[in-house]
Amino acid sequence: MHTELTRDFERFGLRLPRAFPDHVRETYRIDLTARYLGQMIPHPVGKGSGQLSLNETQLAEDARAGLAFVVLKTVIAQDEAGTQSMAAWAIHETKMQVEPRRSAGGRTGWTVTWKGRGWDRSLEEYLALVRAGRDLTRAGSLLVVPSVKYHLPRLEDPFHEAEYRHTTRLLAGAWGEAPLLVEKDFSPTLAGDSLAADRAQILRWLREVPRHIRAASPVPVRIAVKLMNACFDDAFQLEMIKACQEVDALVCFNRLFDAERSVAYGGWDLSDRNLRVLDAMAPGVHPGLSGTGNVCSGRMILEYARRGCESVQLHTFFQLPLSQYPATQGSRTQRALHALVFHPNDGLIAALLELEAAGGLERRGGELRFLDLTTDAHRAG
Ligand SMILES: Cc1cc2nc3c(=O)[nH]c(=O)nc-3n(C[C@H](O)[C@H](O)[C@H](O)COP(=O)(O)O)c2cc1C
Repeated sequence: MHTELTRDFERFGLRLPRAFPDHVRETYRIDLTARYLGQMIPHPVGKGSGQLSLNETQLAEDARAGLAFVVLKTVIAQDEAGTQSMAAWAIHETKMQVEPRRSAGGRTGWTVTWKGRGWDRSLEEYLALVRAGRDLTRAGSLLVVPSVKYHLPRLEDPFHEAEYRHTTRLLAGAWGEAPLLVEKDFSPTLAGDSLAADRAQILRWLREVPRHIRAASPVPVRIAVKLMNACFDDAFQLEMIKACQEVDALVCFNRLFDAERSVAYGGWDLSDRNLRVLDAMAPGVHPGLSGTGNVCSGRMILEYARRGCESVQLHTFFQLPLSQYPATQGSRTQRALHALVFHPNDGLIAALLELEAAGGLERRGGELRFLDLTTDAHRAG
């Protein structure tokens, strides 16, 4: 199989077939089927919310490349009058710097330095993008999910229901059929904000926000909460997870916040922390996990999956200089997928076959199944 893999790696570096999961199933008897927010997807790799899901052109290109899902850029909720209590997150900033970053453990990875925050155009423009995403989702070409930052009050204050109601209704209208899928972002800049200095306040948000989104939606809604890496210790990270009783999926966890430079960052520090916290989670705490943070190889996908993540959401790996991808043709998404899945040493296929050889994963009905990794994780803890 290794010879086959080397051959596929070479030829798919020139052109990755969109239906590569079918090829993987036929050739290696590996079923890459994964899940995000309860939806089955052909493989685990999706795009995290951010600067790479801002327009229809990006969505169409990702659909052509065979990406499994895309989370749209985070929009800031507003009421009928256009008031946004989280307006500080709707700022405009275009310049991104992709740069190497050395972790506390001494490994050099990649990070994107950027001072911007949420969607900075109108809600109407966002709704047009949601409609384009809905069409791709219905056509079966790409699962597209909107992301929202809703009002988060101080402990003694009420939630601005009007912002929840107005924004969620419009999203449900644009989506058009039940259930509405939505990701709620708790971002690294929020983690570094004075709003998030109070632990009780954060825990209240996590307990109550899903309830407010459900109450605001005219149709049944499935909610993913993308948890921030709060500026507290690992034990608090676990408390945050426990507070998320009423969500359908958890995205673990958004980037770290560098308070000195006032920027979010990723790289190995991020994956080290995320995997450590996922390790400490009680077994089977949450079935709907999606991993995010420094996923730059198939091996790293496996690390998240073995801790229960049924899919992964990447941003940085879709932004590297072209010289960093082994493929020589295709869009960045295609080149990234090619490396993540087919790399003969670090790709997902190689890592799964190696795990099988070591007795860590068994074939069922002759097939290795990606999702079996996550059920084993839930069983074993
Ligand atoms: C430039 C940039 C903008 C981002 N914007 C958002 C955002 O609006 N909403 C959100 O939930 N996550 C946002 N993220 C976080 C990513 O979706 C992702 O979860 C995170 O960067 C970790 O993955 P990575 O290590 O593959 O980059 C952003 C990340 C970057 C680098």
